Amino acid sequence: MAEIRIDKVSKSYGKEKALMQGIDLTIMDGEFVVILGPSGCGKSTLLRMIAGLEAVTGGTISIAGQVVNDLEPRERGCAMVFQNYALYPHMTVAENIGYALRVARVAKAERMARVAMVAGSVGLTEFLDRKPGQLSGGQRQRVAMARAIVREPKVFLFDEPLSNLDATLRVQMRHEIRKIHNRIGATSVFVTHDQQEGMTLADRLVVMNKGTIEQVGSPEEIYERPASTYVAGFIGSPAMNFLPGEIQGGAVILENGIRLPVPGLSGLDGTMVQVGLRPERLSLTGPGRGQISARVDFVEELGSARLAHVLVEDIAISVLTGDKLAIAPGDEVGIAIAPCVVQLFDGTTGKRIETAAHAAQQVETVS
Ligand SMILES: Nc1ncnc2c1ncn2[C@@H]1O[C@H](COP(=O)(O)OP(=O)(O)OP(=O)(O)O)[C@@H](O)[C@H]1O
Ligand SMILES: [Mg+2]
Repeated sequence: MAEIRIDKVSKSYGKEKALMQGIDLTIMDGEFVVILGPSGCGKSTLLRMIAGLEAVTGGTISIAGQVVNDLEPRERGCAMVFQNYALYPHMTVAENIGYALRVARVAKAERMARVAMVAGSVGLTEFLDRKPGQLSGGQRQRVAMARAIVREPKVFLFDEPLSNLDATLRVQMRHEIRKIHNRIGATSVFVTHDQQEGMTLADRLVVMNKGTIEQVGSPEEIYERPASTYVAGFIGSPAMNFLPGEIQGGAVILENGIRLPVPGLSGLDGTMVQVGLRPERLSLTGPGRGQISARVDFVEELGSARLAHVLVEDIAISVLTGDKLAIAPGDEVGIAIAPCVVQLFDGTTGKRIETAAHAAQQVETVS
């Protein structure tokens, strides 16, 4: 069992303002958790504190029930895969993969057998005698993975291991990593700033913002019920539309005076809100239909779909359309907004507001 418990962990670098204060997170045994957040929010720092490469300033980190604060990295049973792979250039692939076993004084015959097996599992058998300089980026990435797997760690820690690969290889390696995880079942923590990578890999996502955790949940929860405008805006592509307004008499009155009817708003009159609308959950209709009228500003062709940028008077909204409705700049259109696609956030705090419509939808999904 290799559950990771992060308990009230804080971190400061020198005299600078604290980067993290009181982080709590439990990663279950065998779980694949992805830490997602923009550059500088503290993802690598958190990972390095688990690995023991960076000391915590306060709080405790436990792995498999044991507090590891005072343990050396090699005593923690974690294997880490970095963005730059950190391979030894003068060693062959086989020597790189087997290095940790050699240090641990594993007998040569066993070492070679384990290296051969792991190399086979990541498709490196034919490259064992090459040096890292003679490999492609994707092959080097596999060596870094193999070097971590061969140690049979309790915990895998990944710090943006796919960032140096081209788009195709990235997706391919993403699948490989998930397959290896499904086979080995070691607890895995994967850091990335790529939301799509995070969504597809994770059992649970942890969304970080400036040294704090904004939300923890399954990819679906985070997408469907983001806890704040920060999470809602960070997750999803194209990005969510945000329209500021005020709740009045069962509708949201947008800044330009347009009335957007939303069910389940009773008792919220006078609340300033941000209405969140995902472009892929809206559709365009002919003029005079739909919940609000708009005019097409411009259209982006995406191949499989088109992203229509429309104006509701002076408010810009993007709508992802799969259908071949003929639209051109200047056209009058309607936007169809189903009640359940409207997300509401407090205009001041940015926190999610649950409406009766959401609750009703929940019940529908459950029954
Ligand atoms: N050794 C250090 N000394 C001082 N400040 C540091 C140190 N390492 C990181 N920081 C600062 O801590 C903050 C978080 O850094 P961290 O590397 O954890 O971010 P990150 O989320 O991994 O970002 P990125 O996506 O760019 O890798 C940054 O502001 C960074 O400048
Ligand atoms: Mg980082």
